[in-house]
Amino acid sequence: MQSRSRQLQSGGKKEIAKRLSALSRASASLRARLSRREYFGIFFLEKPSPLIEIESVSKRYGAPRDGVLALSDVSLSVRAGEFLSLIGPSGCGKSTLLKLIGDLLTPSAGRITIAGKSPDAARRARDCGIVFQSPTLMEWRNIAQNITLPLEIIGAPLPERRARADELLDLIRLRDFAARYPHELSAGMQMQVAIARALAYRPAILLMDEPFGALDEMTRERLGRELLDLWTRARVTIVFVTHSVPEAVRLSDRVAVMSPRPGRIERIVEIDLPRPRSAATRDLPRYWELLRQVRAALGLE
Ligand SMILES: Nc1ncnc2c1ncn2[C@@H]1O[C@H](COP(=O)(O)OP(=O)(O)OP(=O)(O)O)[C@@H](O)[C@H]1O
Ligand SMILES: [Mg+2]
Repeated sequence: MQSRSRQLQSGGKKEIAKRLSALSRASASLRARLSRREYFGIFFLEKPSPLIEIESVSKRYGAPRDGVLALSDVSLSVRAGEFLSLIGPSGCGKSTLLKLIGDLLTPSAGRITIAGKSPDAARRARDCGIVFQSPTLMEWRNIAQNITLPLEIIGAPLPERRARADELLDLIRLRDFAARYPHELSAGMQMQVAIARALAYRPAILLMDEPFGALDEMTRERLGRELLDLWTRARVTIVFVTHSVPEAVRLSDRVAVMSPRPGRIERIVEIDLPRPRSAATRDLPRYWELLRQVRAALGLE
């Protein structure tokens, strides 16, 4: 009797293992067939709250009377796993909005939550990595040491820092440059290092403020492609500020178009182009149609 029950138990375990394996295969095949957003959507169905929620946010610099109203009543939700671009005329508050999300500034009115937390709590939990237009690397530290600086600041042990440096150097495909110094790298490579440094903590969100703005067109396009590749592999949510309409359309799931100062969200354009995006994306009539839509929202058409 006992052995029969053991047999049943072991049969049960085998059955569970078989079902788990089938489930894992189904999940892998689903991942291959669905777009990134659709796949993530399934797992976030039970948690419909967006990753970043911006509700009626205004930001005034300076005194209430003679200060500058940079943002007025901005509301925007960013979904987990999404690539969202912010585009708008110079001075409309794009950098201000990014700094509010990253807790480098506080709103004058309204509320921001990141995975349900305040920006301050999210910063302490290291939920966001930030990349600015200039890579700001430390000339006296080699590339691996630059990348792991954030980990050194929090006192992570050396073996952990070395392992993370290797992972990140692989991610940006610059492993051979680990022992080089910033002046030995091109401007584009320096920006990739800055991106890797922002990912050192494994943040869920990457906030990028015109990271490719100072680069030539060819490098910009190449880094855009590499960023998409990295976004897929590192599974981060990206909020990306740019002045370039083609760049925003090429990279994003959605483009939030802002009005001149005081900045508001004028329109959100869904970029329903297939992924992975490539040079061939530009051959699609839909690409040109979306370009036109974003330009029209910016008042350029
Ligand atoms: N620290 C500050 N003190 C006072 N005013 C500021 C400050 N930072 C920004 N502003 C003002 O807030 C407005 C929005 O600035 P912000 O830098 O966010 O714009 P932006 O959209 O990023 O512009 P750009 O595209 O040129 O980078 C501008 O009018 C700017 O002058
Ligand atoms: Mg700016």
